[in-house]
Amino acid sequence: MSLMTSAPVHTPVLVKETIEALVVQPGGRYIDCTLGGGGHAAAILGHSSPGGQLLGIGADPEAIKIAKTRLEAYSSSVRLVNENFANLQAICIKYNFFPVHGILFDLGLSSLQLNGSGRGFSFQHDAPLDMRLSPSQKVTAADIVNTLSGGELAHLIKTYGEESYSHQIAHHIMQERPIKTTLQLAQIIEQAVGGRRGRIHPATKTFQALRIAVNHELEYLEAALKQAINLLGFEGRLAVISYHSLEDRIVKRFMQQEAKECICPPDAPTGVYGHTATLRLINKKVITPSPEEVKLNPRSRSARLRAAERIINQDEYNKTVEKLYFLTKDKDNGWRRPALLKKLRSAFAVL
Ligand SMILES: C[S@@+](CC[C@H](N)C(=O)[O-])C[C@H]1O[C@@H](n2cnc3c(N)ncnc32)[C@H](O)[C@@H]1O
Repeated sequence: MSLMTSAPVHTPVLVKETIEALVVQPGGRYIDCTLGGGGHAAAILGHSSPGGQLLGIGADPEAIKIAKTRLEAYSSSVRLVNENFANLQAICIKYNFFPVHGILFDLGLSSLQLNGSGRGFSFQHDAPLDMRLSPSQKVTAADIVNTLSGGELAHLIKTYGEESYSHQIAHHIMQERPIKTTLQLAQIIEQAVGGRRGRIHPATKTFQALRIAVNHELEYLEAALKQAINLLGFEGRLAVISYHSLEDRIVKRFMQQEAKECICPPDAPTGVYGHTATLRLINKKVITPSPEEVKLNPRSRSARLRAAERIINQDEYNKTVEKLYFLTKDKDNGWRRPALLKKLRSAFAVL
């Protein structure tokens, strides 16, 4: 089923708060790492006009098509790339899109993927157990549930779903394999935990775990956050909206760590790790949607926005330029060292 034909609309969350966190300004350059249907991207482009530019990255080719239509009015200011944000730095180098004023991650899935894609993300709709963001990925959720050992499955469900019934669920899955569809899996989980209790469906955590595993969500998030630092110009803003505690923990720890001047263990001499702060926290307390927003868009209830600002000293600036130089050189696109270093230095000096 295509997202284009059956899709309910995706309502972007915390839009005003995100625009404020990114300090979107006319003429600014922004990266939306999770383009989805283009809701946040449209808001960023609206606020950065005239002269703003946006690089939109999305792993799902169907979502890119929707975003392209939605952002048609801004076509001269936008570049949309069907890629995984795990390759953020390489993408920006390829399209010469750095340094930037702001980078946004609005993690997880859009309502279009959850409800209208037929790709097995939700146990509310019967569909093949797929869960890949992109058809170019090889491993599906069905591959995982049908091939891992019982112990591996229990570990995955526990680690990525924080599910306390992980062993019972894994045991039932092993007995019922092969499992092909979402409803089949949801029923097996319901039986494994002894039926429904409360408002939350018992399959919620296992579906989250499988989705995280299929799409390497946590590893890719960690990798992309590190790359984002190098792409932000002086006082550039990083904003991340997460929807579950595993993601939010990664974002919180990352920002806190990067905001520290020194990360050496207490018993080591100061400065031994050679770390200097690269970020300043904007909101010490996480930003959550207002009750009004949650009422209008219940999907927003778990959203948590964190933001930080890039700080940079001369020494670190030189290192960043060097780092980008070596990455660009790796791609062997014809630049010679002095010319490329000059280009990178002048690019950073723009901000
Ligand atoms: C919550 S939605 C974003 C919605 C978007 N902000 C909007 O307003 O329409 C998250 C999107 O990020 C995409 N995504 C998730 N992980 C990704 C990754 N590692 N690389 C690229 N895109 C990713 C998903 O396919 C999904 O379309």
